[in-house]
Amino acid sequence: MKVEQMALLAASAVSIHAMDYSFRLNGGLSGTRQLPSGVSTSTYLYNAVSSAEVLQEWYNATTGLYRTAGWWQSANCIQVLADLTEVAPLLRLRTDGIVSNTFTNAQTFNLKEIKSNGTTSCIWDTCPDSTPGVEPKGFLNGFYDDEGWWALAWLKVYDIGRNGTYLRTAQDLFEDMLATGYNATCGGVWWDRDRTYHSAIANELFLSLAAHLSNRVPALRSYYLQWALRQWDFFQQSGLINANNTINDGLDPTTCTNNNGTVYTYNQGVILGGLVELARADPTATCLYLEAARNIASAAIAALTDRNGVLHEPGEPDISGDGLQFKGIFLRNVQTLIAALPSDDFAAREYLRFARVNADSIWKHAREPWMGRLGPVWSGPYREAGASSHSSAMDALIAAAAHAARLAEE
Ligand SMILES: *[C@@H]1O[C@H](CO)[C@@H](O)[C@H](O)[C@H]1NC(C)=O
Ligand SMILES: *[C@@H]1O[C@H](CO)[C@@H](O)[C@H](O)[C@H]1NC(C)=O
Ligand SMILES: *[C@@H]1O[C@H](CO)[C@@H](O)[C@H](O)[C@H]1NC(C)=O
Ligand SMILES: *[C@@H]1O[C@H](CO)[C@@H](O)[C@H](O)[C@H]1NC(C)=O
Ligand SMILES: *[C@@H]1O[C@H](CO)[C@@H](O)[C@H](O)[C@H]1NC(C)=O
Ligand SMILES: *[C@@H]1O[C@H](CO)[C@@H](O)[C@H](O)[C@H]1NC(C)=O
Repeated sequence: MKVEQMALLAASAVSIHAMDYSFRLNGGLSGTRQLPSGVSTSTYLYNAVSSAEVLQEWYNATTGLYRTAGWWQSANCIQVLADLTEVAPLLRLRTDGIVSNTFTNAQTFNLKEIKSNGTTSCIWDTCPDSTPGVEPKGFLNGFYDDEGWWALAWLKVYDIGRNGTYLRTAQDLFEDMLATGYNATCGGVWWDRDRTYHSAIANELFLSLAAHLSNRVPALRSYYLQWALRQWDFFQQSGLINANNTINDGLDPTTCTNNNGTVYTYNQGVILGGLVELARADPTATCLYLEAARNIASAAIAALTDRNGVLHEPGEPDISGDGLQFKGIFLRNVQTLIAALPSDDFAAREYLRFARVNADSIWKHAREPWMGRLGPVWSGPYREAGASSHSSAMDALIAAAAHAARLAEE
């Protein structure tokens, strides 16, 4: 699809969504990338849709992956497209073809993708000895977090179009995590097939995936629910959640206690989406799960934002590789949490303001004005963007767009 067609689609998607707020296409189509920020709440959706257009400039249709982004980051780019499509359903005309192309082609390029930093891990075809009897296949690789990212992305694609192929793929990924990755020394799932690390992220993704599946596969509802409950039990007792209610990177393998690793933004995020799904799957304790999610979200916002409320990754501005993707994952899951809370909930209103502040700051300070690329430091100044930093920032734009109606009332 040509850029002009996408812009047309963007304009129509926005005008349909935003009818209530009398959105005006000031500047016409040629003004696509010159809209002022924060003018009206419907602008968030327009900004997100026009940023999707920019994201696709990194897309390689042959591989189904994104140039400048790695294997798991590409899963997050697909997730971002699906999340945006959920907010502006007319975009399916455009995104159905993209996600289906990635579904078909990415699997065949899986083996050639390095995790992120090639020195820290093998890739499939260089480590056959350490993974005897396991054939590289589909969206499986040597890392359970990567499998979890693809599974959650395909579940969102399933939610939008109800095509069972995507649901079954997520189920298969869950079974692989369970069959080959579960029962780590300290409990839960391993980070990797070589069993070198206990990460928070793989365990959060496993929990979220189990809870999502419980709500989507009626025949196996209690099977998945039992795994989700067991995993939440493990997670709470593991020590991964520290005394400040933030989550560190992993566990120490000898003591099975919190390893005091960096409090990355994404580890404060994935758990929120998991708890929201668990709150739906297990109505007997909905309030407890949502309370736990609020405690974590509020602690993360307190610990990881600057005095203007803008989110920062530890180590900024010198982040690269995996870290470029993290912040958006937190915003994506905060968006989910807001939707699960009553609109007059005190914390929900705080999260809403947080989403708006970050979406505004990205558009004002982290956006390259000519190409419309979104860089990794949301408070600015603009630093070089890639598909990871761009899609990550889009998560914040989408969070604001998804709650535009509530923002308009604030
Ligand atoms: C897309 O990926 C294929 C396979 O790796 C590669 O041959 C091709 O050059 C890439 N295209 C672009 C435009 O990067
Ligand atoms: C479901 O998705 C798969 C994978 O993209 C595709 O091959 C298939 O045609 C889709 N089925 C329908 C009914 O659209
Ligand atoms: C990968 O990580 C190692 C250890 O942290 C570091 O020494 C090396 O420079 C990194 N390589 C790249 C390509 O980033
Ligand atoms: C985990 O280990 C226990 C005890 O050894 C065993 O009973 C159980 O089947 C294992 N679970 C999985 C999923 O491998
Ligand atoms: C809690 O936060 C304080 C203040 O930032 C910090 O000094 C302390 O190390 C943190 N404690 C844990 C367990 O992370
Ligand atoms: C983490 O920090 C706590 C408090 O300083 C300390 O007691 C504990 O031994 C540390 N754990 C590891 C694995 O370093």
